[in-house]
Amino acid sequence: MSLMTLHRRPPWAQSMKMRVRKREMPPWFLDKTIGIQKYKNDPSLSDDEIRDDCQWVDAGAPQGNPADMPSAPKLER
Ligand code: HEM
Repeated sequence: MSLMTLHRRPPWAQSMKMRVRKREMPPWFLDKTIGIQKYKNDPSLSDDEIRDDCQWVDAGAPQGNPADMPSAPKLER
């Protein structure tokens, strides 16, 4: 799955929603209901972020303002 382009269409937008909603992505295998929760570099999403992501997919995964888009990284081989 390339992340260099916008994933407007199924299956990617729906897969992203499913993985994010179930907290499978981004990977963070900590039990959110028990034990220490504060870790440096914790990449997991907040409930609000997950809600926003799901709403974005439900809205048809629209493109945002292109002016806000960062330039593509230069990848080296
Ligand atoms: C919000 C951010 C992320 C989203 C929306 C996302 C979404 C997805 C999706 C939709 C798949 C399934 C692809 C398929 O069906 O072929 C997937 C698989 C995978 N992702 Fe992510 N991902 C995210 C972040 C990450 C990060 C940060 C990592 C690594 C550090 C990662 C590692 C993987 C791996 C290893 C797989 C394949 C293994 C598996 O299916 O469990 N992802 N991801």
